[in-house]
Amino acid sequence: MDSTTPSFSFTPNPAPVSPERRAELMANPGFGRVFTDHMATVSYTEGRGWHDAKVVPYGPLSLDPASSVLHYAQEIFEGLKAYRTPEGSVVMFRPDANARRFRDSAARMAMAELPEELFVGAIEALVRADRDWVPSGEGQSLYLRPFMISNDVFLGVKPASEYLFCVIACPVGAYFGGGCVSVWVSETYTRAAPGGTGAVKCGGNYAASLQAQAESKREGCDQVLFLDSREQRYVEEMGGMNVVFVDGDTLVTPPLGGTILPGITRDTLLMLARARGLKVEERPLPIDEVFEKAASGQFSEAFACGTAAVISPIGKLRRPTGEAVFGDGVTPGALSLSLKDELVGLQTGRGNDANGWVHRI
Ligand code: PLP
Ligand code: COI
Repeated sequence: MDSTTPSFSFTPNPAPVSPERRAELMANPGFGRVFTDHMATVSYTEGRGWHDAKVVPYGPLSLDPASSVLHYAQEIFEGLKAYRTPEGSVVMFRPDANARRFRDSAARMAMAELPEELFVGAIEALVRADRDWVPSGEGQSLYLRPFMISNDVFLGVKPASEYLFCVIACPVGAYFGGGCVSVWVSETYTRAAPGGTGAVKCGGNYAASLQAQAESKREGCDQVLFLDSREQRYVEEMGGMNVVFVDGDTLVTPPLGGTILPGITRDTLLMLARARGLKVEERPLPIDEVFEKAASGQFSEAFACGTAAVISPIGKLRRPTGEAVFGDGVTPGALSLSLKDELVGLQTGRGNDANGWVHRI
């Protein structure tokens, strides 16, 4: 298959969800439980390359019990969204950036690299097939989950020679409920070490974060914040989001040093902030400094950012020795809210797209 002109065959779902049931599901979709009628798949075989690009009815995958992904976890994924514009058309936001990160993830995990146009082409083909599933309610979108698994029937530990790329989609609302989120600073677990896989989106990173997330729930918090694995001194990121603090007219956030995911939302927000004349500091940020500056009021706001989380204001950070409160701890900060408005405006095709980020389908 010529990777520059991907063409997807289409097998319509013979029993799609009825329009009435779809409307019911989309009225209150939650996050990640309701899936559309189709999925896109592309296969890879060493020596043959990428082949069999298709959109087919959504359904179970058939895997041999010896399939390599089930044993050695060669798996990567992405997360991005399609939005309904006020005029009723459908747009995506910076899908090329997800395609690049997916290639980077594949390279780190010694997997076949999917050409970027095939990544975007698969998503477009799926969104075209399931266009009616793109919701239009406030804060709603169609969440797209591209992923790739190794699929060799072999128990030797080596990079596989067969892969399956797949995209599924689900209408979603907000990842968190309204208001501010509370965050537990884990001193028990770390997420990623230098030289590890922290900067890529492989499933193993998330499996390894689940005990820390459970710890945060036990502590009465919504999410976990990880510190660096060498000294447990510097802020890194949350289980599924990057983190930003507001210090007057400056946004302070940890640098991309190979152990945190280079978030596309993070990158977008830092660019939007700079364009507003705000300052941005990407620097190692000691957790003690965060607690001190929250206590003095110098860090007046904090927020989590990511595709699923959008911008989720943080009210409180907790650790075994105490609590840091941002603002009054319950009211989202003004800058967090105005950046969120600008971001969501752009993502839903309502803003001035000066950077060419909006991708029409
Ligand atoms: N950090 C982690 C660990 C994530 O899982 C995500 C979400 O994808 C992010 C950060 C934010 O990345 P993005 O803004 O590209 O969604
Ligand atoms: C995303 O934001 O797309 C993620 O993958 C993070 C996860 C918490 C859903």
